[in-house]
Amino acid sequence: MIENPRLPEYDADDAVESAVVKRLANNWGTRATVKKAEPDLDDLFDHDKHDFPEALIPFAEHRTYRDLPEPTREKLRAWGWIAFNKNVMDVEQYVVNPGFSLLAQDAFDTGLGDVLSIAVTQAMVDEQYHTLMHLNASALTRRKRGWALRSRSLPFSATVRRRQAAQSNATDSTGAALSALAFTTVAEISITSYLDLIEDNDLIQPVNRATVKLHNRDEYCHASIADEVACIVFESLNSADRRLFLDGLADGMDAFSSTDFSTWATILDLEEISGHERMLREVEADGSRKKLLQDYSGIRSMCRKLDVEDEIGIEWQ
Ligand SMILES: [Fe+2]
Ligand SMILES: [Fe+2]
Repeated sequence: MIENPRLPEYDADDAVESAVVKRLANNWGTRATVKKAEPDLDDLFDHDKHDFPEALIPFAEHRTYRDLPEPTREKLRAWGWIAFNKNVMDVEQYVVNPGFSLLAQDAFDTGLGDVLSIAVTQAMVDEQYHTLMHLNASALTRRKRGWALRSRSLPFSATVRRRQAAQSNATDSTGAALSALAFTTVAEISITSYLDLIEDNDLIQPVNRATVKLHNRDEYCHASIADEVACIVFESLNSADRRLFLDGLADGMDAFSSTDFSTWATILDLEEISGHERMLREVEADGSRKKLLQDYSGIRSMCRKLDVEDEIGIEWQ
């Protein structure tokens, strides 16, 4: 491992540090995607591959969708990818980075040392770069397919709306900060399973898989950093604030796994797909449909480590 000479060797005697995070902060310069050469996206584009997996389209098995002509389904799949990118970018900008920023400022008065602040600031740079990667990926899809597919026509996802609601419902700034930290923690510890859904699929556009793969590599490190820092902050909280953080985790997990058809409703409306309201109603009411669950095993093991697995008030799957 190449040590980064710019990182401080020593902090103030009482500063809180973590060996795991220090290792990750030290090798950021050699492992982070933002530090690597960009792949040539145009070369990777394959017109014959799907832009988005049908397995992730909630109505892919419904007759109304199956009966559409292939070019229309192709366009809806491209929309699926545009919406996926928008969701990733919105979560990075409005959920993840605001929480990291609080940590970087030691807003919880934990006494976080320089290395921890550097690690979360590096993670914020990564998130900004991921946003650029997904923006580039959407732009390439629009250019190669020749469709407008405007991201700004789409609403914020349920996760972002729920996070905004939690912020406005918080009774004071401490409550708002703890909720923000909880949402960031849930996002960072469970995003890799969401990204895996695209990375592991052979039928999918190589550019999209490459984008997600590069992103995912950074996220495995973020998951360790988020877990470690959340535990350190949690241990320093009083019992009322611990409760607020745990309630925030439960709220965040519920938000990330909720079924939200508002984006698809907007897309189907824009594409004037006839009968789409009925299709979405039927799919929503169909209890047999496999729910797309986030993988919360990482959050669960963090809670086990903190000895609060049974205090969080959710049914672990
Ligand atoms: Fe990211
Ligand atoms: Fe991240």
